[in-house]
Amino acid sequence: MRQFIEGLPKAELHIHIEGTLEPEHCLELANRNGIALQHNTPEAIVRSYDFNDLPSFLSAYYSGMQVLLTEQDFYDLTCRYFQKAASEGVVYAEVFFDPQAHTSRGVDFETVISGIHRAQKDARQELGIESGLIMCFLRDMSAESAMEHLHMSLPYKHWIIGVGLDSDERDNPPSKFAEVFIEARKHGFRLTMHCDVNQQDSLLHIRECLDQIGVDRIDHGVNVLEDEELCLDLVHRGIGLTVCPVSNHYVVQSFTSDEIRSLISKGVKVTVNSDDPAYFRAYINENFQVLAEEGDFSQQEIVQLTKNAFDIAWLSDDVKAVYLKKLENYVASFSSSVVI
Ligand code: HPA
Ligand code: ZN
Repeated sequence: MRQFIEGLPKAELHIHIEGTLEPEHCLELANRNGIALQHNTPEAIVRSYDFNDLPSFLSAYYSGMQVLLTEQDFYDLTCRYFQKAASEGVVYAEVFFDPQAHTSRGVDFETVISGIHRAQKDARQELGIESGLIMCFLRDMSAESAMEHLHMSLPYKHWIIGVGLDSDERDNPPSKFAEVFIEARKHGFRLTMHCDVNQQDSLLHIRECLDQIGVDRIDHGVNVLEDEELCLDLVHRGIGLTVCPVSNHYVVQSFTSDEIRSLISKGVKVTVNSDDPAYFRAYINENFQVLAEEGDFSQQEIVQLTKNAFDIAWLSDDVKAVYLKKLENYVASFSSSVVI
């Protein structure tokens, strides 16, 4: 199974670029930028990670990204993610970034997006990995700040495929950002929002995503299984979920294999992703692997999850068909190469 997963051509749709900052790279950047850190070795940084819910993760996440200051820093960060992703068989990625977490520290929007964009171009040329960029708003900041950043992004809108919503969900419902997302839609952006696992108002937030925002996708969203009608609605509207097994494990002590299997059986387009791999210590293949082990998943189920990702990616039907064909060819050649 491990070999099968490693070779699969994959799409990753839920990956925060700031969540790919490895401890070694964090130390290198701190050194380059003359920033003093609390911990001085990669091991000490990893030991300091002690997450059991969303706020405890977010505190480490925002603290780590303080070392990102220049265009070159964002370029290097993004290049390293693409190198790792390509080595794991990712052929297409839709990558989140959190501009407010940088502008609030005095780093210009242009610095952030230029570095990321330059790395996307180089990754296409040098690694053959295609990608899209999704701008996330921080839901624990105001709707006014989100709107301001939406306007700030417009000169670069040809570099951005969609907008998302992340950070601390408690008391920050989708409806708080309804105007911002309506405006984003007018500018042609695709829409997604996090509905993290086991939040205070998970079901209400998923309902708002559908009825008030009209999202194209939901990030996480596994609690939808608790409401049959909501689940049917999701299927009916063809809205996919970008699920992150290892990230979920920090909150619910399970890789949510039962939930993922149920979602597949109900026809929900559920996908597997890594979320913040440097913090959760697992990139996409490890997410597939632990899921397959916990749920004793078949190759067919793994293929279904991979197909779903290409299906719900924000790509044209023609491009999706090319990726799906590549996947089909891989599965056929893998089966025929296995000696029984
Ligand atoms: N949820 C909410 N905010 C985040 C996440 C997440 O999974 N990752 C980075 N910021
Ligand atoms: Zn996330």
